[in-house]
Amino acid sequence: MSGRSSRISGFYKLSIEERLKVVSEFAGLSNEEIDLLKKYGALDIGTANRMIENVVSTYQLPLGIAVNFLINHKDYLIPMVIEEPSVVAAASNAARMTREGGGVYTSSTGPLMIGQVQLVKVPQPSIGRLEILKRKDEILELANQCDPVLVKLGGGARDLEVRIVESKAGVLLIAHLIVDVRDAMGANAVNTMAEAVAPRLASIAGGSFRLRIISNLADRRIVRAWTKMPVEAVGGRDVAEGIMEAWAFADVDPYRAATHNKGIMNGVDAVVIATGNDWRAVEAGAHAYASRDGRYRPLSRWETDGDYLYGSLEMPLAVGIVGGATKTHPIARISLKILGVKTAQELAEVIGAVGLVQNLAALRALAAEGIQAGHMSLHAKNIAVMAGAIGDEIDLVAEEMVKEKTVRLDKAQEILNKIRASKKF
Ligand code: MEV
Repeated sequence: MSGRSSRISGFYKLSIEERLKVVSEFAGLSNEEIDLLKKYGALDIGTANRMIENVVSTYQLPLGIAVNFLINHKDYLIPMVIEEPSVVAAASNAARMTREGGGVYTSSTGPLMIGQVQLVKVPQPSIGRLEILKRKDEILELANQCDPVLVKLGGGARDLEVRIVESKAGVLLIAHLIVDVRDAMGANAVNTMAEAVAPRLASIAGGSFRLRIISNLADRRIVRAWTKMPVEAVGGRDVAEGIMEAWAFADVDPYRAATHNKGIMNGVDAVVIATGNDWRAVEAGAHAYASRDGRYRPLSRWETDGDYLYGSLEMPLAVGIVGGATKTHPIARISLKILGVKTAQELAEVIGAVGLVQNLAALRALAAEGIQAGHMSLHAKNIAVMAGAIGDEIDLVAEEMVKEKTVRLDKAQEILNKIRASKKF
């Protein structure tokens, strides 16, 4: 179509209204569609406009609350933002099962993140490495000068490591600055420090620096979660065995491990998003960690001795409760309040527990009735609503459709008519 160019200079300088006009003309949006884009929700448009660039609207997703979570003997309500049906119900259901063994237990390392500095063209890498390590205290001091507030809060640069890596661009000297980021996700603090120390590192080693950036493989910021429950809690010995066999399948097959871990991330991401955290960072870290021994593996492990089912999970979780959207997004703030977490470490541990419980829900469903049964009943409820069912009618219509194994609009209407006719007498 002529005249329809996406080369728009100064789009960012336009007002939100003007940007919307440009987009509507480009895409031929109707007045109704424009009106929908102007419905902003709780995130006001001014805040959104300061959060990212070229804003034209905001985007809403459902926020559900998973119930029944008992983590380290403390009860939590879990805010989850997700578009996928069944996830919140499944989490609540599996959390109830874990209560029969006392809930979920967690631990974590400190909130340590890694900042990487890439040094190239270092004439003698092994000597350069030692020269840098000799000046570790000076480098840490230089890094800590960037963030006196973090240091005052008990955080700051803690350690320095240097790796020699052969690459297609020759030998690289890679410095890792290990930073305790306390309650932050840490990207800002770590990137600032990496940039501050890079010139000094290059001058010590005699090469030049290139990248200075956080690593999302946050393997110094690990969360561990575990649970133990009587096999009756999941439906008996055979189901528990099925869960263990499902895990064993994932342990030897990356095709299955990817889906297994996707089920974990259903729970993890939903809380990460609800609390305004960076889910791409968490995802990248999780999958890199899952491949740490050279093959992609499940992040969790399930075992049974016939009486009990044992589950555990270990993964990096870089999340914060200060800074970024955790503070600017009003719903993220409320989510944190609902969770009642006091530190980023507590938040990370809760998220790890949710990941483990979500995994249990998926494996239990797969090992027992199959995943479609749960999806079907939710789908059936949606169809019932579409057919005009209200109140109690929704469950009645949905249950009947599932029983008759026909989940279709015409069937829903037929059942609804019957229910209503029977009520008349
Ligand atoms: C669907 O979103 C997640 C599952 O596929 C996870 C799994 O297979 O373990 C059910």
